[in-house]
Amino acid sequence: MKKIGILTGGADCPGMNSVIRAVVRKSVQEGCVVTGIKNGWNGLVNNDMRVLDLRMTSGILDRGGTILGTSRMVSPLPTETMSAIYENYRRSGIDALVAVGGEDTLKIALDLYVQFQLPIVGVPKSIDNELSGTDYAFGFDTAVNIATECIDRLHTTAESHHRIIVIEVMGRHTGWIAVQAGIAGGANFMLVPEFPVDIDKLCNALQERNRRGKMYSIIVVSEGAQIKGHFNPRAESPDDHHSRSPKIGETIAKLIELKTGCETRVSVLGHIQRGGTPTAQDRLIGTRFGVKSVELILAKQFGKMVSLKGNKIQCVDMSLAVSRRKTIDKDLYYIATAFSDI
Ligand code: F6P
Repeated sequence: MKKIGILTGGADCPGMNSVIRAVVRKSVQEGCVVTGIKNGWNGLVNNDMRVLDLRMTSGILDRGGTILGTSRMVSPLPTETMSAIYENYRRSGIDALVAVGGEDTLKIALDLYVQFQLPIVGVPKSIDNELSGTDYAFGFDTAVNIATECIDRLHTTAESHHRIIVIEVMGRHTGWIAVQAGIAGGANFMLVPEFPVDIDKLCNALQERNRRGKMYSIIVVSEGAQIKGHFNPRAESPDDHHSRSPKIGETIAKLIELKTGCETRVSVLGHIQRGGTPTAQDRLIGTRFGVKSVELILAKQFGKMVSLKGNKIQCVDMSLAVSRRKTIDKDLYYIATAFSDI
């Protein structure tokens, strides 16, 4: 194995640069060269790549985003796009590829592996943490920490004004960020896609808190949360990344004000959760994933995704990672409900 290619696809997230740096370091140590493919799969479609060396990847460990750039592409790709990727890959002289990404990027990686036997290894990234086959995807820990800090800050303003604050966090299909940041930040209610909420029960619980003398409440809502009897387009359309549909946080806040008469504000954290410096944990996982991905390539273990199980770095079939979503841990959810009154 002489030439290893790497690309980062889908939504950017903190820790991507840690993976790139680790792949380059480990490859150089093993006598390989690395080609960085720009802007995800688009770089292979447009032949946009450049050599990555130690100097270019030094000093990037603490940088958010990705020095390679990224783009969104969704499987299945049109036949001509798949062929262009395959042809440009062949002409590039790259011997094997590391694809760093979430569900969409890894599905395309799997399609290329199955259709053209392209030698690919996947690295899971997702602030939503919904990829199966791994306990954690990198980027998630940073998002949880950012959301927790925001919840702490919103607590003090909610308390001062005796208001309800609805904090909308990311998580189109799973409520990992909402539950973990909600527990860590002491939220009063956590609403997640996996458990649709009864809005009347929620309003009763909010009023009950007021009767007990708690004149403010903090509600953390995943963007894909469901209200029983209401449609949430962000959760239900299969490719809703770019949707600018009304946000669930706003819908919930309006319903609460209408039903309880309590003054309610909404704070949508949005892309703040994806930007900036990765936590130590995400730098560490990203680095371990990057090194493991090169080891898998050298061992010719293609069609695999690196994964974290407990504290061990392992690998699983890429097909397992994308076959179904990892929904929130039920035990964790029950802990969350112990602190909420619905
Ligand atoms: O990484 C996944 C995610 O963060 C979702 O939770 C969110 O819906 C989506 O990306 C938004 O991405 P963008 O606005 O960059 O398309």
